[in-house]
Amino acid sequence: MGLAEPMKPSEVRTLVLAGHTLLRGILDDIMRVALAELDQPGTGAARMRQRAIELADAFSAHLEVEEEILRPLLQKIDAWGPVRVERMNADHANQRERLFEIRRQCGDPVFSDAQLARRLKQLVIDLREDMEWEEREMLDADLLRDDILSIRQFGG
Ligand SMILES: [Fe+2]
Repeated sequence: MGLAEPMKPSEVRTLVLAGHTLLRGILDDIMRVALAELDQPGTGAARMRQRAIELADAFSAHLEVEEEILRPLLQKIDAWGPVRVERMNADHANQRERLFEIRRQCGDPVFSDAQLARRLKQLVIDLREDMEWEEREMLDADLLRDDILSIRQFGG
């Protein structure tokens, strides 16, 4: 991929999906430590808080990548582009708010380990759902096809 050359839709798709795989690994791990914490309080609290902060950082970085490479592509890929972009903007705003909150709560002693574990459980469920939806509606192989985009570019 040259610097001046925009990424192909298939390349954008591969990169974003790789990001999802990485995030799912963190989400799975957080779910594990949160459940362990609820089951046997005190066992993994420090790890749970640390992983939650890592999640917030990694997920935020992923949102930025999507906005840089996926959003402009969706915008022009078909007639539903602007609708998809609207949805992405709304989803990302919501996710950023949730991540900001969880980050704050991780550093706030007012939140007990059990409270945090329950919140993290719900956050993991919601973020997994968001990513699945995104993969169906915005990252489908039939949507991000290299040939379709070039036909539209040349055919007008
Ligand atoms: Fe994503």
